[in-house]
Amino acid sequence: MCGIVGFVGHKLDAKDVVLSGLTKLEYRGYDSAGISLFNSKFRSFDIYKDFGRVQKLKDLTKDTLKSHIGIGHTRWATHGKVTKDNAHPHYSQSKRFIIVHNGVIENHDELKSQYLRDSLFYSETDTEVIAQLIESFSDTLSVENAILTTLKLLEGSYALLVIDTQMPDTIYAAKNKSPLVLGISDDGVTVASDLMALVGFSSKYVALADHTFIVCEADSVKLYNLNHEILPLNYSEIDLDESFSELGEYQHYMLKEIYEQPSVVSRIVQHYLVDENKMISDEILNDIKASDRIYVLAAGTSMHAGFVGKYILEELAGLPVEVHIASEFAYHTPLLTHKPFFIMISQSGETADLRACLMKTKKLKYKTLTITNVKTSTLARESNYYLELFAGPEIAVASTKAYVAQIGVLSILGYRLSNASFDLKEALTKVALSIEDFLEHQDVSSLVHKIITKRNCFYIGRTLDYYTSLEAALKLKEISYIQTEGFAAGELKHGTIALIEEGTPVIALISNPEISNNTRSNLNEVVARGATTIKISLSNTSHKDDDIILKDVHPLLTPMVMVVPTQLFAYYAALERGLDIDKPRNLAKSVTVE
Ligand code: G6P
Repeated sequence: MCGIVGFVGHKLDAKDVVLSGLTKLEYRGYDSAGISLFNSKFRSFDIYKDFGRVQKLKDLTKDTLKSHIGIGHTRWATHGKVTKDNAHPHYSQSKRFIIVHNGVIENHDELKSQYLRDSLFYSETDTEVIAQLIESFSDTLSVENAILTTLKLLEGSYALLVIDTQMPDTIYAAKNKSPLVLGISDDGVTVASDLMALVGFSSKYVALADHTFIVCEADSVKLYNLNHEILPLNYSEIDLDESFSELGEYQHYMLKEIYEQPSVVSRIVQHYLVDENKMISDEILNDIKASDRIYVLAAGTSMHAGFVGKYILEELAGLPVEVHIASEFAYHTPLLTHKPFFIMISQSGETADLRACLMKTKKLKYKTLTITNVKTSTLARESNYYLELFAGPEIAVASTKAYVAQIGVLSILGYRLSNASFDLKEALTKVALSIEDFLEHQDVSSLVHKIITKRNCFYIGRTLDYYTSLEAALKLKEISYIQTEGFAAGELKHGTIALIEEGTPVIALISNPEISNNTRSNLNEVVARGATTIKISLSNTSHKDDDIILKDVHPLLTPMVMVVPTQLFAYYAALERGLDIDKPRNLAKSVTVE
């Protein structure tokens, strides 16, 4: 979703820092990009912006003079169409203030009619209201107080950077709900919406808390609360490895990340089952054991991992688990048991729907564990506990390795809560080997022709395969734009089978020996109505004419391997269709608005 980067310093060109940061944030999804830079010749600020990619911005700014200060933005439209005018940065009316903003100002209409009835607006965005308010208050107040007065009026979420063109050495920044981090080095100060944008330019960082305001100059940073009281800056070291973000031999990040899955599983084993210091703490386990129900909250792919987690936790630990869609739970909380425990699953750790849930559970004083790939994320910081996925940065918008890692970590949690006697380390190692064997020896690209020219597609499966079919369908939709449904195999005949016609692709997932014949019967029902089928099974459930046969793994871990061919189907379908695989239309990697 939207990205923000600002820089003020001495030696470096702000354009380079900001554009490099925005490039690193491209994976989060956006539709427009813009930058404001100081023009030393005219001692004023220029704005360059347009819809489209950061590359366009690089072309637009290729001849600019070196600038010591700049702010940039990638926009994922929420208010107003994808146009140049709606792209950030935005000016205030007299052009004194320049602003970039992530988030949504929910009361922007009220603010307009209450304070800005005479102002002229250049865009359809909610952001411009902030710029106009700051300007209107600056008539009578200092800049800092004008910004603080504005912040106190805003309802909703914001991470914002402001430049006062009359103070060309300062960036003002503020945060509420949307993520914002501040990095420093001898070269200067960088402020960004994601730690990734600081890598290479800052050695230390501070993740800013909600309702904070900072004033940044090349050699000084001051952090305040909204009452203008100074707060301490507690820096941490940045330990992100940039090599994770390189494509290497792969054409796309999605493919690279699919191929990384065996090593991700091995890394999880190493961290949680081998290294004694890093095992899941007794504190977490005791809190869960003391609860009478686990509530898993998540969105998208992470929710599908949550379904698998429910199955594993209930089977292994005998604890009742409910899975809820975060955006629903936040505003329609079900009746809770007396001692609930909450598990938030989120690759990014920034999903705003989940943050809204966290605010709610915190208010109710319930304990929360976040399972995330980003240990510096908002949810990791604000939950009582977090468990890291160790998947390495996931750049492709469509999640693959993080999903497999989520199930891996949930299986370890379930195992540690249980009295199970099987060797989970060995079972997960077998998962890594089964995925590796499949990726090395089986080519699914030819099967994709059964899918790509079709209007719609179905994945079917029972029990754990049903959950995998939901994830498989989401992946194909996200990347190839083929309308796909994941279905409980036995349920298809109760209505949806009406959609099956000559050539409709139906992909069956068959990993459970106890019910594999039932799934095969359901497959026969669609074959009788003209469906084109693909069968994915495990060695112990396979028939010799199955299209893909994967090596057996522990029955509770089958989703970790069964999902892999479906990830490749999505990948190759998008490739054949000539689509933007790593940045599918309309999607964002980190959805920081509700
Ligand atoms: C977005 C992405 C999905 C992702 C979902 C949850 O909608 O496009 O691919 O599954 O967010 O993200 P999270 O970071 O919370 O796992």
